[in-house]
Amino acid sequence: MSERKKVKITATGRYVPPKVMTNKDLEKIVDTNDEWIRTRTGIQQRHVAEKGVGSSALGVEAARKALDKAAFDPKDIDFILVATGTPDYYSFPNTASIVQKELGVPPGVPAMDVSAACSGSVYALYTGHQLVASGDYKNVLVIGTEVMTSILNWDDRDTCVLFGDGAGAMLLQPAAEGEGEILGHHLGADGSGGDLLMVPGGGSRNPTSAETLEKKLHGITMQGTQVFKYAVKAMADSTLKVLKKCNLQAEDVKLIIPHQANDRIIEAVSRQLKLPREQFLSNIAKYGNTMAATTLIGLDEVIEQGRVEKGDLVLLVVFGAGFTTGASLIRL
Ligand code: UT7
Repeated sequence: MSERKKVKITATGRYVPPKVMTNKDLEKIVDTNDEWIRTRTGIQQRHVAEKGVGSSALGVEAARKALDKAAFDPKDIDFILVATGTPDYYSFPNTASIVQKELGVPPGVPAMDVSAACSGSVYALYTGHQLVASGDYKNVLVIGTEVMTSILNWDDRDTCVLFGDGAGAMLLQPAAEGEGEILGHHLGADGSGGDLLMVPGGGSRNPTSAETLEKKLHGITMQGTQVFKYAVKAMADSTLKVLKKCNLQAEDVKLIIPHQANDRIIEAVSRQLKLPREQFLSNIAKYGNTMAATTLIGLDEVIEQGRVEKGDLVLLVVFGAGFTTGASLIRL
């Protein structure tokens, strides 16, 4: 067996569709108001893909940006991982194979979707890390991409105001001595929370029918308060677990990039961990919840802004439907 390789994030990219939907726009289609959405969630606007645009298209744009930054030819990608809960098609072809074709990655290169809802980014990053660390692959593309607006019930104000569309991407490669490095992860799942956040229709239990359509079972349903409580506990626990695993302290971390589901969840996690609020990224105001894309968009944004730089420790932490949870600790 070959020796395990250190793995770095060579480059990151993000893409959101140009069309913006503000809270005021939402007031026109559902019984809600800007003040409620801002104060209860922190969201001010979200980006919305045009009809007919799938998650693969957003993912390809984000990937191109990441690869351009590294001046890296898509022809040299040797594995594609796409985290998404809104694949182009239920059930196949998988979105990663569509990305392969559209991005110009050669046929033959493996392409796999990762399904862990909002935790998909960290699950995919973990998987990509292992692929490179094993020595089996050298240039792994990790994408988190969502067209959340395709699975919203626009009559349900409890959920439709929360989500937006977008994608983030990263290129993983072996790291030389002294370069940045992915240090470790924590992953978890608790299926007992499955009913609290789901899309009930369209799968093998409730195949699409006139009845599922009439009952609007193809949109997200959520017990918000219970999900909120799980989210705070899961993200605080996961943060502590990955730090312990890597033998590091929260104070060592320059920035924590949490899943962006609600600004009040981020606030509660910071209080639970007794860490300053400024140590946590919040960009939910601009994007809403883009599920598997939030932390990848966030990482690309803070690198671009110079808020984090080479040598800094950043911690991605997520939770999502399943329930699932996870955290990754990275030295840039
Ligand atoms: O990525 C994971 C996915 N989701 C999440 O993580 C979300 C987790 N949960 C949450 O973020 C929060 O629970 C919500 C934002 C979903 C809801 O906030 P809340 O403070 O828990 O509100 P609530 O559900 O207790 O509702 C409070 C009130 C209710 O009215 P009454 O019963 O007090 O008269 C709701 O009907 O707010 C009402 N309400 C709204 N009002 C205006 C709920 N949604 C809306 C809305 N606009 N969009």
